[in-house]
Amino acid sequence: MGTPEKFTPLAFRSAAPDRGGLNRMPKVSASPILPDSVSAHRSDRGCEIVLPLGKDDKIYGLGLNTANFELSGHRAWVVPSDHPEDDTNESHAPDPFYVSSAGYGVYVDTARYATFSVGIASTKDEPAKRTVVIDVPTAKGVDVYVFAGPSTLEAVQRYNLFAGGGSVPPLWGLGMAFRGKGDSSAEDVRKLAKSFRADDIPCDIFGIEPGWQTQTYSSSFVWNKPRFPDPDRFIGQMHDLGYRMSFWEHPFTHPSSPIHEALKPFAGNYLVWNGLVPDFATKGGRDVFVGRQKEVLFSKGVDSLKIDEVDSQPFHHDRWSFPDTSVFPSGLDGEQMHSMFGILAQQALLQPLTDKNLRTWGLVRNSHALSAPLPYTLYTDSYDHKCYIRGLAKTGFGGHMWTPEVRDASSVEDLIRRIQTVIFSQYAMVDCWYMKMPPWLQIDADKSNAGVVMPEAPETTRLVRDLFRLRMSLVPYLYSAFNEYHRDGKPPVRALILDFPADPETAHVDDQFMFGPSLMVAPMIAGQAQRSVYLPKGVWFDYFTGERLEGGRKIEVSKPLAQLPLYVKADAMIPLAEPVGHVGKDTTFRIRVKVYGDHPAPFTLFEDDGETNDYAKGAQNRIELSWGGSSGVVKRSGEFSGRRYEIVGWDRLR
Ligand code: GAL
Repeated sequence: MGTPEKFTPLAFRSAAPDRGGLNRMPKVSASPILPDSVSAHRSDRGCEIVLPLGKDDKIYGLGLNTANFELSGHRAWVVPSDHPEDDTNESHAPDPFYVSSAGYGVYVDTARYATFSVGIASTKDEPAKRTVVIDVPTAKGVDVYVFAGPSTLEAVQRYNLFAGGGSVPPLWGLGMAFRGKGDSSAEDVRKLAKSFRADDIPCDIFGIEPGWQTQTYSSSFVWNKPRFPDPDRFIGQMHDLGYRMSFWEHPFTHPSSPIHEALKPFAGNYLVWNGLVPDFATKGGRDVFVGRQKEVLFSKGVDSLKIDEVDSQPFHHDRWSFPDTSVFPSGLDGEQMHSMFGILAQQALLQPLTDKNLRTWGLVRNSHALSAPLPYTLYTDSYDHKCYIRGLAKTGFGGHMWTPEVRDASSVEDLIRRIQTVIFSQYAMVDCWYMKMPPWLQIDADKSNAGVVMPEAPETTRLVRDLFRLRMSLVPYLYSAFNEYHRDGKPPVRALILDFPADPETAHVDDQFMFGPSLMVAPMIAGQAQRSVYLPKGVWFDYFTGERLEGGRKIEVSKPLAQLPLYVKADAMIPLAEPVGHVGKDTTFRIRVKVYGDHPAPFTLFEDDGETNDYAKGAQNRIELSWGGSSGVVKRSGEFSGRRYEIVGWDRLR
């Protein structure tokens, strides 16, 4: 309607639509929402769009608020914030895209803080009519996109393909990640990194927090030489130990930074923590800011970034970010910039690695619409375990990824249960940014910093190691799920409603989720002696005991600390790798294929160098695994000459 604004998420899209992928989707003859059932009004306050909502339709999405799930009855605000557990719908990824259980999706192309009143507003003329009322303030016009299904999952797929298709991680991105304490020195980091190898604790990514710089909050982007006297040597040594390096930064640029003067013309008019806010929508802003990051980080071999604080804190004490009235040289105002800041920062900081033909796996604290092609996972400072699990389930309603990161814990049980959640995320991370020791040695932050190892450390370490090894055994399986995300837009982690739309019991299940094509995870929370698990219709196998279970019912489950409720859908194959301590350039995974049920469907492994973008130019193999009645069959095709996978055996469960 009307004349859409110049600065919208589509104007800043990260990739072209994947037309090939969209063409592979089922043909749909009619629009799921008929134009004459939609109304739109323009006024001095902005745009209002009213969309129909069927009597029993359920609505999901609108980003990654972790307190809500099905949105009927909500007035949901898509506003960037670092408080995803508030029930306003504010979040680290306020994405104006929703899907309906009726099998379609709606995307409103706006960087404004739009509000979606879902099934709560009725008019005096048609009081019985259910609607979604969308309020887009300020705009004189807006484009609304409707994505067909026919299923809800297919509507999500179309949205992600429209965004350009899902990102493909480097293989190492799917291993374990650990972040050290903020004020660690190179020596501290190296010691810890070596101890993980000695203790056989799998770890691929080592994260360095703010203390690598001379000045933070805001940032100087200058190495802190007392802590890191020789950055090149340090990073080289960490690479030799098999770690990929992830560095913390936020964009706010301190007066002591060498780029401060050059950045000034390309920064917003307000400061944050006394630092400049780079305008990544200008070439000058990108060139100056990214140029510095190349010089201090990427030229030294840094593999990925944690882009912090690109969100906002609008409704809480300590409102540290820039005002919505800010003016940026590109022409964006503060509201638009808040919505786009994370996306623009991700795009800009991806470039130096893309230029080197390298993939990355980063962290970011703000994202928005059409983000599927961006290889960054969202995280938060909030810490409610239940909300963390819900966040994972919700990632599948769009193109986001979420890490329910593990920090300290209130008990060993709390730690283990949290780790059992994080190993089933897109980014499996333990984030010790305020703790000296890893939590398997000490769960309490103060004691950790006082150097006190807890008496339960040996047993806890054993449990944690086994869970990390479980994650490592699933790397090839998960990598395949990501290749499907890339090709078909199908998110690797999904709420049950997306996979079992015909089973109405799944509509409100927000504490279980699918991980890859055929694993279902139902994490436990500390204090639960047992939990109820909904098994959707069909046959399931308990991953740990192999027990065969009839679905279409709720079961009560108790699990010892070493296990969690984890189920395999019948007629599936799970390629399970012998766990490695980290994914090296030449790692070949030795795989046993677990074959479940009477009529196992084939499984495709994707094989490539695991770290460059050559796969997109054809340097990739497909390994088709199928069950030939009494033995497994392996068919490898493609143009990648290396070997990442070796199939060493098959196990049959029925
Ligand atoms: C926070 C961030 C944490 C940690 C910390 C370091 O903003 O969410 O994960 O990086 O900064 O100061």
